[in-house]
Amino acid sequence: MLEEISKELGFEVELIEEGKAKLVVPKMSNYLRPDGVYEPAHAPVFYNPKAKFNRDVAVAFGKALREELGRLEVLEPLAGSGVRSVRYAKEADADKVLAVDVDPLAVKLIEINARINEVEDKVKALNADANAVLHNRQLREGYYDLVDVDPFGSPMPFADGAIRSTRRRGLVALTATDTAPLTGARPQAALRKYGAKVLRTPFSKEIAIRTLIGAVVRVAAVREVALKPEIAFFKDYYVRVELRLDRGAKRVDETLSNLGYIFYDDKSYEVVVSRGYPLPEDIPRGMRALGPLWLGPLSGPLAKKVEGGVKPFVEKIIKEDEVGVPFSYKIEKVASILHTNMPSPRLVLLRLRELGYKAVITHYDNTAIKTNAPKEEVFKVVKELSP
Ligand SMILES: C[S@@+](CC[C@H](N)C(=O)[O-])C[C@H]1O[C@@H](n2cnc3c(N)ncnc32)[C@H](O)[C@@H]1O
Repeated sequence: MLEEISKELGFEVELIEEGKAKLVVPKMSNYLRPDGVYEPAHAPVFYNPKAKFNRDVAVAFGKALREELGRLEVLEPLAGSGVRSVRYAKEADADKVLAVDVDPLAVKLIEINARINEVEDKVKALNADANAVLHNRQLREGYYDLVDVDPFGSPMPFADGAIRSTRRRGLVALTATDTAPLTGARPQAALRKYGAKVLRTPFSKEIAIRTLIGAVVRVAAVREVALKPEIAFFKDYYVRVELRLDRGAKRVDETLSNLGYIFYDDKSYEVVVSRGYPLPEDIPRGMRALGPLWLGPLSGPLAKKVEGGVKPFVEKIIKEDEVGVPFSYKIEKVASILHTNMPSPRLVLLRLRELGYKAVITHYDNTAIKTNAPKEEVFKVVKELSP
């Protein structure tokens, strides 16, 4: 069978498994970088095994949404091999999935993968440009409960279309792999793509998540659409956000009230969080501003209903939200400011809890602590516990 498929597609393929799906993908050992690592961008159709966790989360939220709505119709406008679309059909029991790709080879592969998994009645492949589909109701055949945008780089060029094609109470899911602008390594690119000022901080990964949400929320506001995170996180080399969509000026105003700025001083680790959009309510002197950023929670009610292997990870983010602080203390940086050795972050966390504060290790950096303790207390504890 594989030989026939290879002939039909014009490149060698192999059969792999991911989640509950069996998949035909380009033979990965044919697309190695000089250092021997597989490079999905070199393959004729994109399949990245490293994004499995991203898809595991996507499918788990899809399943939870299906249970809530009693229905699940998914649009994947940049579908690649079709792995995600097939998994929505098989594992989240989606009733209908429209998998779109601009590359005709990808569309052929999506059709093959739908057939192999016996979900060809649910997964339809379409060869078209993502934005053409997202902005044309006829082409995309209506509206969807979940629109999952997983492009190369920034999802912002597809954000407005994703918002347009999602039903009320549905989810707009976006992956961003352009972590250089989002973490402050390329401030000019961040300004262009996300309309935000992003600088490097010891909690850059959290800034990345909050910058992306802040930007998408503002795009949605133009259409009187309100978006709120059901889950948002940073993992490996990407940011992933799944946002619940609602309509109405009042809800949009409420969403915009969660926007604001973080002021940061690198010499002292002083952080000031100031709500307000387009301008912050307070502007502390002599500090550098980052934003606009989403300052609200990174999880919502759906996160509490998610089951399966991703649940412990999702619970970590729920716990971080309970601390209610949109940044973290990287213990190594605090120790370096104090000119002292770095204590174990775990011990710092336990001590802060003993003192009556909330404290958790962040999901994006296991040497960073999120706490509601004032900075002076964190510094005191780090000094006290320094070996
Ligand atoms: C990162 S890959 C998608 C991976 C896939 N979502 C997954 O989970 O494995 C991006 C895909 O977008 C497709 N693509 C790029 N530009 C596009 C466009 N303007 N419209 C539709 N598809 C596009 C590429 O051909 C590629 O297959």
